[in-house]
Amino acid sequence: MDKKITIAIDGFSSTGKSTVAKRLAKELEYVYVDTGAMYRAVTLYMMRKLFVSNDHVNEEAIIRHLPFINLHFEYNDVLGYGEMYLNGENVEKEIRYLEVSQQVSKVSAIPQVRKMLVKQQQEMGKSKGVVMDGRDIGTVVFPDAELKIFMTASTEHRAQRRYDELMDRGDEISYEDVLQNVKDRDYMDSTRDDSPLIKADDAIEFDNSNYGKEEQFQKVLEVTKKKITEV
Ligand code: DC
Repeated sequence: MDKKITIAIDGFSSTGKSTVAKRLAKELEYVYVDTGAMYRAVTLYMMRKLFVSNDHVNEEAIIRHLPFINLHFEYNDVLGYGEMYLNGENVEKEIRYLEVSQQVSKVSAIPQVRKMLVKQQQEMGKSKGVVMDGRDIGTVVFPDAELKIFMTASTEHRAQRRYDELMDRGDEISYEDVLQNVKDRDYMDSTRDDSPLIKADDAIEFDNSNYGKEEQFQKVLEVTKKKITEV
């Protein structure tokens, strides 16, 4: 039996990280953790309380309400991955709306929010055998992860990918709004003071601009299998 390892997949939004991470977890029979969903769920809670909107962020209120937030993933057999629950409510669909994407970088820049979620993520991955995707997994959450992957793709490819996903879901949005959101989040996620999105020195970089989903996955699977036999 192969030794179980920790796999950290980081990168910019809509690079195909979560598609690859989910499939990899299934293939290896590992647990998959979508840390972006956790930041999104906290953001949704704060939006409902009106603590964050297009023109304001009430950091003090956000920090004060963190103890009232309970997050968990519940495995959905049909989907083949864990759906996000916020205080017992399935919010998997709602957290993907563009409105949430537009606020999430503000909430995730707050150190107390990060501290709370990083602790939960470390707990979820402590037995190894986990594929976790996000922005700071290889740098902050699991700096000792045996395998670190950093995914990139051009801004336009990523915006198109996100736009197609939202259209498939029946959302009424424009490509320009999605492109703007991708650019805004790139900027905010990589320039924030606490745990900005950066490639870990020992991460393997994949530029997905010119690869299809299958090719992307096969390349990652290849390096993963190699790594598992090495540890
Ligand atoms: O992976 P995603 O696009 O669903 O993530 C949504 C936002 O959450 C992203 O713009 C930044 C934040 N995030 C973060 O700060 N750290 C993580 N580990 C994961 C996501």
